[in-house]
Amino acid sequence: MNILLIGSGGREHALAWSLAKSPVLNELFVAPGNAGIEQFAKCIALDPTDHRSVIEFCRLHDINFVVIGPEAPLVDGLSDSLTHAGLRVFGPSSAAAQLEGSKGFTKDMCSRANVPTAAYGRFDNAEAAKSYIREQGAPIVVKADGLAAGKGVIMAMNEQEALDAIDSCFDGAFGAAGAEVVVEEFLEGEEASFFVLSDGKNALPLATAQDHKRAFDGDEGPNTGGMGAYSPAPVMTEEMMDRVMREIIHPTIADMKAQGCPFKGVLYAGLMITKDGPKLIEYNVRFGDPECQVLMMRLKTDLLPILLGCAEGTLDLVDAEWHTDPAITVVMATNGYPGSYEKLSEIKGLVEAAADPDVEIFHAGTVVADEKLLSNGGRVLNITARAATVSQAREKAYAAVEKIDWPGGFYRKDIGWRAVEREQQD
Ligand code: AMP
Ligand code: GLY
Repeated sequence: MNILLIGSGGREHALAWSLAKSPVLNELFVAPGNAGIEQFAKCIALDPTDHRSVIEFCRLHDINFVVIGPEAPLVDGLSDSLTHAGLRVFGPSSAAAQLEGSKGFTKDMCSRANVPTAAYGRFDNAEAAKSYIREQGAPIVVKADGLAAGKGVIMAMNEQEALDAIDSCFDGAFGAAGAEVVVEEFLEGEEASFFVLSDGKNALPLATAQDHKRAFDGDEGPNTGGMGAYSPAPVMTEEMMDRVMREIIHPTIADMKAQGCPFKGVLYAGLMITKDGPKLIEYNVRFGDPECQVLMMRLKTDLLPILLGCAEGTLDLVDAEWHTDPAITVVMATNGYPGSYEKLSEIKGLVEAAADPDVEIFHAGTVVADEKLLSNGGRVLNITARAATVSQAREKAYAAVEKIDWPGGFYRKDIGWRAVEREQQD
């Protein structure tokens, strides 16, 4: 089977790495890919917003399955266009991708389907939002409704901050994403991510993970796309997973089907485990990055039939097996990220760093020029390891990180601290 994978990040490198192991795979094309993916797949320049040229490429290269990595092409309807052209796709329709594309859409789904989540109000004008904030008091959370590259969430510790956040949203700080806002209750507890596949009617729980969103050690500094992650998340016990399936995932899948936009793809539930039980913070409609890297590191079974089952409505016929050993990934990012940064600094030492068979290095923003590996983005490398304990996996990952010679980059030195602390207590 020939496959086209859309995307260029560490998530796509991990997906490509897993798909490449499938005995069913013939050729793997990745658009646009990166220097890591290029080592074993064909990277091609294709504009995912130009649906017609993606369809043409598929016809020309006899592509039997398209896997869409990031959220933007999903919200933009690439899955719909490909399906309409008779192609098989992994990734939800644009209507179902509203679960990530509009926070208000998801909150309304939660209230219809009785999914536990933070109490909220939805507003399209500043005055109504402000009076809701004055009624509720602080702390309180203000969110731009649309996709804002992870930046549209303001956790206001006092009322004034919340009122200012409303002004900046309606003044266009998040562009069109802020034309509507959700104001919601501040939840306390431990966060975890849970990944579940759905074919529109069946659900297949995959695995759990925890990520580190802040740029610097000790969870300090600005929010990023994620500076590291590990799987499984210790707070997500078997019992908690069953409860989340029952109270959150199944009601969501049933409601989406009833609304006429069945969800087919991966549901990434961002959860807060509160003292009253699990609550949904948000849904994403694609794999997390860098969470996908640790998931793929733990997946034992062939990824391809599982993703195909999702696209074909036969998810009840497949199963996913996992290594019980935990996996961890440390993100190496360019100095200055998530603010402004320079590109094209040289990276050395990758071969030595990847020598340990329990270590995989997934590339994110990299490019090769004159036979040199150069940085080409904010998040650049994901140093990933699997071992019997989180502490051991972490040692292996950091031993590899230290072999990488890249003065232009930085990384957090405390990825996995919460899980390591738990292991030390046991
Ligand atoms: P979101 O983009 O909705 O996932 O929000 C980004 C991050 O903000 C989450 O991962 C949480 O850490 C935090 N967050 C969002 N909503 C809430 C909430 N209602 N209470 C507490 N923290 C929240
Ligand atoms: N690591 C967070 C995300 O992929 O949204």
